[in-house]
Amino acid sequence: MKMEKRRKSLHRFVIFFSILFSGVRGLRNVSIDIPLAVAAGTTVNMSCRYDLESDNLYTVKWYKGPEFFRYIPKEMPPIRVFGELGNKVLQNRSGAHHVVLKNLQPNHTGKYRCEVSGDSPSFNTIMVSAYMYVANLPKSDPQVRVEKIRYAIGDTVRGNCTVPSGNPPANVTWTVNGVPVNSSFMMNVTDKIIDNQQLMTIAGLDFEIIPDSFNNGRLHIICHANVFHLYKKQADVELIEERPRLASVLGTRESSYIGGATKRFDGWYMFNAAAITLLLRNFR
Ligand SMILES: *[C@@H]1O[C@H](CO)[C@@H](O)[C@H](O)[C@H]1NC(C)=O
Ligand SMILES: *[C@@H]1O[C@H](CO)[C@@H](O)[C@H](O)[C@H]1NC(C)=O
Ligand SMILES: *[C@@H]1O[C@H](CO)[C@@H](O)[C@H](O)[C@H]1NC(C)=O
Ligand SMILES: *[C@@H]1O[C@H](CO)[C@@H](O)[C@H](O)[C@H]1NC(C)=O
Ligand SMILES: *[C@@H]1O[C@H](CO)[C@@H](O)[C@H](O)[C@H]1NC(C)=O
Ligand SMILES: *[C@@H]1O[C@H](CO)[C@@H](O)[C@H](O)[C@H]1NC(C)=O
Ligand SMILES: *[C@@H]1O[C@H](CO)[C@@H](O)[C@H](O)[C@H]1NC(C)=O
Ligand SMILES: *[C@@H]1O[C@H](CO)[C@@H](O)[C@H](O)[C@H]1NC(C)=O
Repeated sequence: MKMEKRRKSLHRFVIFFSILFSGVRGLRNVSIDIPLAVAAGTTVNMSCRYDLESDNLYTVKWYKGPEFFRYIPKEMPPIRVFGELGNKVLQNRSGAHHVVLKNLQPNHTGKYRCEVSGDSPSFNTIMVSAYMYVANLPKSDPQVRVEKIRYAIGDTVRGNCTVPSGNPPANVTWTVNGVPVNSSFMMNVTDKIIDNQQLMTIAGLDFEIIPDSFNNGRLHIICHANVFHLYKKQADVELIEERPRLASVLGTRESSYIGGATKRFDGWYMFNAAAITLLLRNFR
């Protein structure tokens, strides 16, 4: 009984203070919600959330460097846009909480800021910001090249993974039989033919075969290429353990395969995912 009473009075106390504070509170909890990364050419819906409490809205302004969008509910028309980015605003889909931008390009990568102001007398102003990448994605899949596909213990595997050019360049990682392995080198190469803002990525792989390297006589190498969550591709190659006893049998099958589906490439064999599938089918 006593506990019940105490709880009730505490409850009343909490309600009393909530009412007291809501009378003096104004604009608060401003947050910006924009994608981390989008592909070039897409339309982006950016949100700016806020809680006005008892305040009225005076303005919402958006900046990327200079201001590009302003919303003032008391004015007619309420929306005004500025500059090159302002011309990309879809005004009929933008307003107090959203600004929709069309056909963004990589040079629109950067920090976006939203500034919200309450009305008089407080004119309370809060600004928040977030960074967005606009990426030119690689136009095709990565490719793995290795010097050869048959190895004995003690041999060194050397290979490269090349990801077609994009902006920003792709992140490349390797796995060998599912285990992550560091690249021996990583290069961003300018692709002058397409556009000098575009960078091709080349990652190298270099490791020595040890007795544990093979799994049932196979070694599966995968190159993973990512550009944020927008481009996630992989290319793989399967290496074969060289064992004298099997050499003649495998040798004949392999040479017939090479005649068909691989291309000689400056003394290296070039593979793509489709060719590897063919290779595997040939061996099963
Ligand atoms: C602030 O806003 C976010 C998202 O709009 C919401 O999840 C969160 O609960 C709010 N926080 C407060 C203290 O109102
Ligand atoms: C919004 O305006 C654009 C032109 O600025 C027009 O193409 C589009 O159809 C309009 N969308 C709506 C939903 O009114
Ligand atoms: C933008 O996204 C919000 C949700 O975050 C949604 O309510 C609104 O309708 C969207 N606006 C447009 C024009 O797509
Ligand atoms: C971005 O690049 C386009 C051409 O792709 C150009 O028209 C525009 O002015 C550039 N904008 C900025 C902010 O640099
Ligand atoms: C791998 O890249 C290195 C460094 O650019 C180069 O020397 C080598 O020829 C490349 N190998 C292949 C197979 O492309
Ligand atoms: C890979 O590189 C990281 C950082 O450079 C290093 O800490 C790690 O030991 C390396 N792993 C291997 C297997 O070499
Ligand atoms: C390649 O470019 C990316 C982004 O510009 C950068 O983060 C990375 O360090 C560069 N890598 C090399 C090896 O230059
Ligand atoms: C590359 O990886 C780093 C570290 O995980 C990440 O911060 C960066 O955003 C990635 N870049 C791209 C283009 O995916």
